[in-house]
Amino acid sequence: MKKITLALMLAGAASLVMADGAALFKKCAGCHGAKGEKKALGKSAVIAGLPVSKLEEDIKGYKAGTLNQHGMGMLMKGQVASLNDAQIKELAEYIHGLK
Ligand code: HEC
Repeated sequence: MKKITLALMLAGAASLVMADGAALFKKCAGCHGAKGEKKALGKSAVIAGLPVSKLEEDIKGYKAGTLNQHGMGMLMKGQVASLNDAQIKELAEYIHGLK
């Protein structure tokens, strides 16, 4: 019985995290596509399915203003400036899971 309760709690926590990532991704979808399948403004890489670590590093780099891969780093800085580390992690995991 205990095991079942724990499994349910974990499942609940996981879906909460996923819901958050999905909500946060809404404002990215306009450029990157609903499933992260587009090259944003014809410039960026397709981000769906990229490794979590690369996504996290990129978003943090844009936030810090130190990353500029295709000449549009400042534009991405504006998109992610208000995200905290936990939100960045959720987004990275969500985007990694997109296909
Ligand atoms: C207004 C359009 C736009 C929006 C909205 C936007 N992006 Fe981007 N994104 C871009 C562009 C353009 C680039 C390329 C930036 C550069 O020159 O390095 C990029 C690059 C990226 C990259 C690196 C991809 C690569 O080429 O390696 C990631 C990761 C990323 N964006 C995530 C996000 C996330 C997460 C959000 C939402 C919080 C978001 N973007 C919102 C336009 C956008």
